[in-house]
Amino acid sequence: MSFDPCTMSYQSHVEHFEKIKTLIFPSSVDACSELAQQIKGLILARQKEGRDLVLGLATGSTPVPLYRELIRIHREEKVSFRNVITFNLDEYYGINRDHPESYFRFMQDQLFDHVDIPPDHIHVPDGMVPMDDAFDSCEAFERKIADAGGIDLQILGIGSTGHIGFNEPGSTQVSRTRLVALDKVTRRDAAPDFLGEENVPRFAITMGVGTILQAREIILMAWGENKADIVAQAVEGHVTESISASFLQEHSNVRFLLDTAASSSLTRIRLPWLVGRAMWDEREIHRSIIWLAGKEKKPVLKLTDEEYNENGMGDLLTREGSAYNLNIITFNRLQHTITGWPGGKPDADDTNRPEKSEPHPKNVLIIAPEPSDAVVSMAGTMSRLVTQGHRVRVCYFTSGSLRVTDGAATRFARTLEMLSLDGEKLHGGGRDETVDRGWSEQRSFASLILNQILEKGPFGEHPAALRRLKALIRRGEARDACSVVGVHHEHIRFLDLPFYEKGRYRRFIATEEDLMMVADMLAEERPDQVYTTGSQADPSSIQAICFQLFIKALKRHENESWAKMCSIWHYRGHQKALAPHEIAMAVPMSPDQLRQKISSIGKFQVHGIPNNLSGEQDLRTAVDYDALGMAEYEAIESFERIEGLKYKR
Ligand code: PGA
Repeated sequence: MSFDPCTMSYQSHVEHFEKIKTLIFPSSVDACSELAQQIKGLILARQKEGRDLVLGLATGSTPVPLYRELIRIHREEKVSFRNVITFNLDEYYGINRDHPESYFRFMQDQLFDHVDIPPDHIHVPDGMVPMDDAFDSCEAFERKIADAGGIDLQILGIGSTGHIGFNEPGSTQVSRTRLVALDKVTRRDAAPDFLGEENVPRFAITMGVGTILQAREIILMAWGENKADIVAQAVEGHVTESISASFLQEHSNVRFLLDTAASSSLTRIRLPWLVGRAMWDEREIHRSIIWLAGKEKKPVLKLTDEEYNENGMGDLLTREGSAYNLNIITFNRLQHTITGWPGGKPDADDTNRPEKSEPHPKNVLIIAPEPSDAVVSMAGTMSRLVTQGHRVRVCYFTSGSLRVTDGAATRFARTLEMLSLDGEKLHGGGRDETVDRGWSEQRSFASLILNQILEKGPFGEHPAALRRLKALIRRGEARDACSVVGVHHEHIRFLDLPFYEKGRYRRFIATEEDLMMVADMLAEERPDQVYTTGSQADPSSIQAICFQLFIKALKRHENESWAKMCSIWHYRGHQKALAPHEIAMAVPMSPDQLRQKISSIGKFQVHGIPNNLSGEQDLRTAVDYDALGMAEYEAIESFERIEGLKYKR
């Protein structure tokens, strides 16, 4: 019998670990279409009874696919939302309703403008109420919920602090709607939305934990690997004020809907042999033995029969004979992941090497969804590939302009302005009309940019010229970073995909135009080896969107010989480091190579800081490998293998 954690009944696990009913779906879209059907059923049932349905709604990237599906149901299945009353969980404090990041505006754009909920049925906390009136305004909000008969179904996301609404760590179980200070982690998470952490509001108004717990039914959704750890703590840990989502354990009608990436830290997924029958395929055996070594704090080769038996792995022992055999298999498998030849070692036996030796040199394509992505995760590997003679091309899918601050654009415009004044003084002054015109055009461009920055204010939409300038600043950083690892600037491609140029964080939508551009790029590059990222990321993130575009574009070439032979490697450092059992290729770095990597990353002035800025993840992977009994390296970059076109999500 095979073990499928997605379909296994929840009941068999509940008494072991999970204290909240938790359902795992292949993707966020699958989860949301099921939930949207449930909501449709509730709306129609209430319509028959002549009653309203009261929904508690959330913002952020998580509910976006739900809202898209509700809009589709309204349009295509002709379901009216006239009997729906809504209460939103929260709102930033101190920004008005037309601010592009206000939750009021978010809800208009993502749902309310597209369905027929009457405007007087919509309630979003008022983020502009004077401080002195905030208490009364929050009380009035609570009264309105009560007057509407209470919330029938409350939709929630979860923040990386474990917050529901903006109930940050420390919120009590009985807290009500109130003005709160935002946690620094929450503000850092919101930095890309607000083009810099310094612009993120410090306060917000949020329903309390107590308010949320009064809803008759609660559904919390979470997507992507970044949510996996906090979800597991909320579902399996103690009820604690430091994770407000854990209070949901006390509610009698609550469900968590997860995609596979967000479920990956649950015990039933992480350690299935502890909660039931494991599948014991090659992958599971590898994972369980590495886990056992970690638990026993021993290198793999020192694990004993007793330790297997005492940790739910006795059936594995029975099947495979002895700990000795299992240990050796795992040791060799780990050992074979290590290579200093990420592009394959020419003229070497490649039976046990991660990458095949032929062809050599290879056409290597490195995909960076945002410009800083690739070097943060694989600068050391990039440098090796170049040194080992491969034809390395780096392709930046998006321009990254949204991460360039106004400060950087101002600095550039001022430099241009000063340069034109100096130039005019030295070389102009009426001697040559064309030269004079050149300086003055340069100065007009500088003042156009400075005016655009002033006019749009800290959060406004970017006019085209400003956005373009920011993209070019990013390009300069990307070129510098590549040059540190030996990739020549002529070997860099910037796709500037339109979904990014037209979008905002948490609400990007890719179209056929993006897909065509990626497919055309692949047709030109005909790579033998690709490095990419984003398979486990939040589906609304730039990384996940770019990953899907890459896979779909590759599919369009599936009959071409290069695509059939192409090996695809996945780096994950930006979101979450790979665990040793996931690693299929481990590329070691010396202390000097690590220094070079850090200097390459340092070329980017980023906000919404990615992990691994100083290579900590690479240092940790090396420590993990050492502890498992491998050689002791300074640092290691790590990659998963993606099984080419057979790979599906
Ligand atoms: P997200 O935010 O949906 O954008 O991840 C969730 C939250 O902070 O509650």
